[in-house]
Amino acid sequence: TDRYCVFGHPVGHSKSPAIHAAFAAQIRDDIDYTAIEAPLDDFAGAWWRFVAEGGHGANVTVPFKEEAFRLCDTLSKRARRAGAVNTLIVGSNDASTDRKVYGDTTDGIGLVHDLKRHGVELAEARILVLGAGGAVRGVLEPLLAEGPASLLVANRTAAKAEALATDFRDLGEIAGGGFEAVDGPFDLVINGTSTSLAGDLPPLPDDLFARDATAYDMMYGPEPTVFLRWAAERGAQTIDGLGMLVEQAAESFFQWRGRRPDTAPVLEMLRQAL
Ligand code: ATR
Repeated sequence: TDRYCVFGHPVGHSKSPAIHAAFAAQIRDDIDYTAIEAPLDDFAGAWWRFVAEGGHGANVTVPFKEEAFRLCDTLSKRARRAGAVNTLIVGSNDASTDRKVYGDTTDGIGLVHDLKRHGVELAEARILVLGAGGAVRGVLEPLLAEGPASLLVANRTAAKAEALATDFRDLGEIAGGGFEAVDGPFDLVINGTSTSLAGDLPPLPDDLFARDATAYDMMYGPEPTVFLRWAAERGAQTIDGLGMLVEQAAESFFQWRGRRPDTAPVLEMLRQAL
């Protein structure tokens, strides 16, 4: 039985063990996936202990994604851009001798897969992304790779959004600014701020959405977030971040096991349990 885990702090409420157990059961794969709360001051120590005990790979969540990035020997292109890693793989040749660590970030591709699953057209779309923290940095490359007409990053601290736009400028039509610079309409608005956690909403103009627009919140919960309720009142299709969670997990699972699980039944299971 190959061993995997998710590292976080706290990690008790992580849905990753249930998701990966469901994936493995679906394809009759045999893996052991647990949750490990690494100490805040020694993520690397926890990781190497796990490897020494035969661990094959791991997911990494808050607050260790940047530290995981720093301990990798090799990084995917998108992880290097994101400056963060959510998927660790121990060298694949012979786990007993090859302890090289490969890092990837699957959050962005997870978001893109979830949007496509919902039929959202990204090519030529006018996209607005709210927020400029780690969550947003992690999704910009896969979004730009879809060839949107434009991508505006808007943030409470305008300078952070401007810096992000500069960092990704070579990949496509991207601009950054404060919320006051938001000038619609947009076909897709993605909320990557943490305002939903506080039941809050960034200040946004009323005419934000184009016809047939989609509003996506990276957060999720048993009830729609304030942002999604606000968007629904203005006629947008609304999607919460539970699908992104399952899709990023599926991409990690694929990297480890070489097979793609069907995400739909797993998403349904999680939705029922919210
Ligand atoms: P994460 O890793 O989840 O992205 P983060 O890096 O702390 O977390 O980023 C949080 C994001 O939510 C930031 O874009 C932050 O805006 P600032 O850069 O101006 O801090 C945004 N955010 C948090 N609280 C907010 C609020 N009350 N109103 C608007 N934006 C908020």
